[in-house]
Amino acid sequence: MHIIAVSNNKGGVGKTTSTVNIAAALQLLDRKVMIIDMDHQSQSTYHLGINPGKITKSMYDVLKGDISYRDIIIDRNGLALLPANSDLKGLEFLPIPAKEFLLRDALADLNGYDYVLIDCPPSLGVLTLNALTFSNEIFVPLQVQFLPFHGMYNLFEAVEMVKKRLNKNIEISGIIGTMYNAKRTINREVIDETKKRLPGKLFDTLIRENVALQEAPSWGQTIFEYKPDSNGAVDYMELTREILHRYHDDV
Ligand SMILES: Nc1ncnc2c1ncn2[C@@H]1O[C@H](COP(=O)(O)OP(=O)(O)O)[C@@H](O)[C@H]1O
Ligand SMILES: [Mg+2]
Repeated sequence: MHIIAVSNNKGGVGKTTSTVNIAAALQLLDRKVMIIDMDHQSQSTYHLGINPGKITKSMYDVLKGDISYRDIIIDRNGLALLPANSDLKGLEFLPIPAKEFLLRDALADLNGYDYVLIDCPPSLGVLTLNALTFSNEIFVPLQVQFLPFHGMYNLFEAVEMVKKRLNKNIEISGIIGTMYNAKRTINREVIDETKKRLPGKLFDTLIRENVALQEAPSWGQTIFEYKPDSNGAVDYMELTREILHRYHDDV
């Protein structure tokens, strides 16, 4: 089981878009997939057409240990979602020890999925630490429109800390270049710089800037449901094939 945290402490870089659409592509390629929404803003829950305001039990109750994750699984045409709602914010303030291990403990007997993708919030707080403690690896979406490295070093530091103290197996295995626009020179510069500083990490497939990707969440649809012919759908499918190839899972 590949457990992948999609994380970057910067907001608006394409974490949710990548989580939902890579998961959807994996499912189209017949892999068994689960999405865990670990963001109290519930963006991936919303993206999949579920109103977080109407959810009474969410990841919050699972992490607190009140219920099993099985009690909140939403089966969305075969794609499993563990939804979030705004209750998740409360986890930060719960007076329980070893809070970084709540997700790992709550999902200890999870099985039957090929890929588990975790949508992280844009911070390095307790929710992200839970995701990194439970995962085998991290995908970092990187908006290629800005030179973003100083921000990313906070993430690298956090990963090193997690590696030392919580989960020695965790690795940043891939950087996903998002919102790519070939007409902007800055995009090329960010890509070259990323390849230089972090050799071998950037996926070859870049996700182009695409309006359909922006529109799909308000319809509660993945890009493959909303506009299967769009650049967004083409790019996320190609990226997903590249991911499978890296795992030698593309036979
Ligand atoms: N490739 C893209 N082209 C255009 N808009 C995008 C693209 N990827 C994401 N977006 C939009 O940018 C915003 C931020 O993306 P999102 O995935 O929500 O980021 P995060 O989860 O990191 O905060 C959203 O409105 C989303 O629809
Ligand atoms: Mg998000």
